[in-house]
Amino acid sequence: MSEIKKIAVFTSGGDSPGMNACIRAVVRTSIFMGLEVVGIRQGYQGMLEKNFWNMDSRSVSNIIHLGGTILKTARCLEFKTEEGMQKAYDNLRSENIDALIAIGGDGTATGAERFSKAFGIPVICIPGTIDNDLYGTDFTLGFDTANNTVIEAIDKIRDTADSHDRLFFIEVMGRDSGCIALRSGIAGGAEAILLPERDTAIEELIEKLETGAKRKKSSSIVIVAEGDKNGGAYDVAKRVKEKFNFYDTKVTILGHMQRGGTPSSTDRVLACRFGYAAVKALLAGETQQIVGIRGNSIKLTSLHEALNMHEFKLEEDLMELATILSI
Ligand code: F6P
Repeated sequence: MSEIKKIAVFTSGGDSPGMNACIRAVVRTSIFMGLEVVGIRQGYQGMLEKNFWNMDSRSVSNIIHLGGTILKTARCLEFKTEEGMQKAYDNLRSENIDALIAIGGDGTATGAERFSKAFGIPVICIPGTIDNDLYGTDFTLGFDTANNTVIEAIDKIRDTADSHDRLFFIEVMGRDSGCIALRSGIAGGAEAILLPERDTAIEELIEKLETGAKRKKSSSIVIVAEGDKNGGAYDVAKRVKEKFNFYDTKVTILGHMQRGGTPSSTDRVLACRFGYAAVKALLAGETQQIVGIRGNSIKLTSLHEALNMHEFKLEEDLMELATILSI
C-alpha cells in the first residue's frame, strides 16, 4: 500500500501550451485514485510563500483548451539556497503534502531532483517546455503547438515575401535548442535553417542564397534559432546584406507568441498521458523520475540520467532533408 495520501502539483520555468491539460490530468487522476491534491501557484516561489490551493475535480473544469498555466509560473532564486529549500519543505509538511509532481523544463527538473534528494520527498517530473530539449522523451509538452504557431507565421510571411520578392529572416525561440527551428523550417519550406547546435558560416549561407537566386527563386526564408552562434536574426540579416544584396531584406522576431495559444490535439493528448502516468508512478513508489514518451509508449527515466545525458535531439535525417528539399 502506498503511503502517499496527498500530493501537490506545480508548474515552473517557462510556460508551454498543454500545461493546463496536464494539471487537469494530474488533479483528476489523483482524485480518481483517492488522493487529495493541492495546486501550488507560482512554482517554487509558491512553495516558499505557502501559495497553496486545495483542488477538486471542478477546479480544472474548462481548462483543457487553454494555453498558459492556471497555476502560474515563476523562476525562483531563493529556492536554490539551502534555507529556501528547508522553508519550502516545512511549508509542504505543514500541509501534510507527501509527494510532488513538477511540470516544467530542465531548471524545474534540476530543482526537483535536489529537493527530493535533500528531504526524501518523492518527486515525479513532467517535461513541459516548447524547446523539446529534455532527455528521456521524444517530445516535450508544448513543442508541437509551438511548431504550429511558427508554421502559421512562416506561411503568412511567405505570402508577402513572394509578393515583394524579398528575403526574410525569421527568428524562433530556442536559446540552446534548435528543435523548433528545424521542424518548423522543414514544415515551412525554409531555404536555410540556422541552429545553436550547428555552426553555419555566413559565407555558406550566402552561397546557398546565391544558388537559389540563380535557380530563379524570387524570395527566400531563413529560419534563425535565437541561440544560433552568429547572433540573432538581425545580426545575421545585417551580415548577409553587407555581401549579398540581391534581395530586399526583412527580419521578423516571433518571440513569446510561440509560448502561448491553444494547445494542439497532440499536446493535449500528451498532457493527459503524462499527467496520468506521473500520478501512477508516485503511487507505484517511484521517485526522482521524469515521465516521457518514446515511440508512442510512456516511459520513466531517472532524473539523474535525464539531467546528465545530453542527447543530440536534432535528427540527422531531418537536417539532410531540409538541405535537399530547399534546392
Ligand atoms: O525555455 C523556453 C524558452 O521559451 C526558450 O526557448 C527561450 O530562450 C526562453 O524560454 C525565454 O525565457 P523568458 O521567457 O524567461 O525570456
